[in-house]
Amino acid sequence: MATTRTKSSDTDTSRARARTRKSADSERSAFFGGQTGALVGAAVAGAAVGFAANMGRKMLMQSPTFVSGSWDEALKAEHAATLALFDQLEKTTDDQTTLRAGLVMKIKWALSKHAIQEENVIYPALREANEAHDADELNGEHGSVKTYLYELENMNKGTPEFLARVRDFRQLLEGHIKMEEEETFPRLKAQMSDEQNRKLTLAMNKEGVKLA
Ligand SMILES: [Fe+2]
Ligand SMILES: [Fe+2]
Repeated sequence: MATTRTKSSDTDTSRARARTRKSADSERSAFFGGQTGALVGAAVAGAAVGFAANMGRKMLMQSPTFVSGSWDEALKAEHAATLALFDQLEKTTDDQTTLRAGLVMKIKWALSKHAIQEENVIYPALREANEAHDADELNGEHGSVKTYLYELENMNKGTPEFLARVRDFRQLLEGHIKMEEEETFPRLKAQMSDEQNRKLTLAMNKEGVKLA
């Protein structure tokens, strides 16, 4: 019975919503036909400018990856940029808690975008090239990266334990980067034709722009 009542009240709610939508639609038609048409036009133009500005921002954020030319060089550049943030973080003192929190946020953003490019494009390509073992191992380490980020975000940033955790995190990351840059990625690149590598670069950049 209770289920029937819920269903019927859901139907009433959706009918009411449909009525509201219908009346809003006719008001909107009146707007387009009347003097307010110019205002609506300006608003639409404003939205287009906003969209272009957002695309511009995204392209700017992704540009270091674009200029790198090929997918593996682009990922290498992102690795280096992330390690440079770790350098800054390791130079902080226990009283610079706000700076520490800001740098953790920057590292989190950089690694999240980086991980999505690898997990959505590069690791699937690895699996296709019969490198499922490497893909699984690297993917598992991305899980540990997320755990470190979670811990660092939530722990007290004014103690020596914080930096000790940062150093552990860096150690994991450096091992992961070494495997990608020195073993897995060169092997994958060599297995593919120039055209396949070009396609992979395009696909990865497309994924990066979505998140930039
Ligand atoms: Fe990775
Ligand atoms: Fe990577």
